[in-house]
Amino acid sequence: MSNNLLKGKRGIITGALDENSIAWKVALKAHEQGATFVLTNAPIAMRMGEINKLAEKTNSKIIPADATVVADIEKLYTESMEHLGGKIDFVLHSIGMSVNIRKNVPYTELNYDYFNKGIDVSALSFHKILAVAHKMDALNEWGSVVALSYIAAQRAYPFYTDMADIKAMLESIARTFGYHYGKQKKVRINTVSQSPTRTTAGGGIKGFNEFFEFADHQSPLGNASAEDCANYCITLFSDLTRMVTMQNLLHDGGYSSTGVSQEQLDAMAK
Ligand SMILES: NC(=O)c1ccc[n+]([C@@H]2O[C@H](COP(=O)([O-])OP(=O)(O)OC[C@H]3O[C@@H](n4cnc5c(N)ncnc54)[C@H](O)[C@@H]3O)[C@@H](O)[C@H]2O)c1
Repeated sequence: MSNNLLKGKRGIITGALDENSIAWKVALKAHEQGATFVLTNAPIAMRMGEINKLAEKTNSKIIPADATVVADIEKLYTESMEHLGGKIDFVLHSIGMSVNIRKNVPYTELNYDYFNKGIDVSALSFHKILAVAHKMDALNEWGSVVALSYIAAQRAYPFYTDMADIKAMLESIARTFGYHYGKQKKVRINTVSQSPTRTTAGGGIKGFNEFFEFADHQSPLGNASAEDCANYCITLFSDLTRMVTMQNLLHDGGYSSTGVSQEQLDAMAK
């Protein structure tokens, strides 16, 4: 169903790895809502070639960029504006990776080289994407930038290890950059804190399946799917949310406001 919410808008969508990726769903929805956009991912992630299918479906160009490399991001904006024919209206940051999680390193014994890598890929990349856009004046007034976060930025989740700290940084960047960019150019910056979602990044977390079920039972509406998340992102890119900025927006079926669900209590009573 299309309401043309993004008609005439130009965007950049990072992080579509395969059809499970949240960014993949955002691209499909953005296309459905009339946007034109560029897809981007780290060159190494493109070896699988899945992204070509998405580019074909959404009639979009792929511009490879490692989001930790400023020169790549500069090239991404230059080529995106050239290809799309003007400044950018929306950007999705959908990038996350922790080597400590991948290698099952416990939080109390974190490897700091891995930690630094995680910060660079998952949080500083957001600052770089914003700082390059700001320097190049690549975003239109009232443009909207969204990054994806997780509630472990505010609450302790043992399995999320260093990504908890990294997401806290990501959310802080949204607030602080949101202040400056809002003042100067009326650009909006928010994070969406999403339910656990079955994707490559999500599935890499030890005990993810058990936790996915727990969260699903804890949330009155159940876990929000990747498709639901995409719909929410579309509203944030649209003009209907013009005054929303510097927020961490919980998109979790009510999980974060629930102390305990009856299902969890019943399970404990067994
Ligand atoms: N899956 C979940 O449970 C969940 C929940 C809340 C938030 N998130 C967040 O959603 C975002 C998207 O993750 P996803 O779950 O769709 O998984 P995903 O694995 O499909 O996406 C992660 C993407 O990051 C990209 N990436 C990694 N390093 C990069 C680099 N150096 N430069 C550019 N891109 C790079 C990967 O290639 C991949 O496309 C992440 O920020 C993740 O933390 C996920």
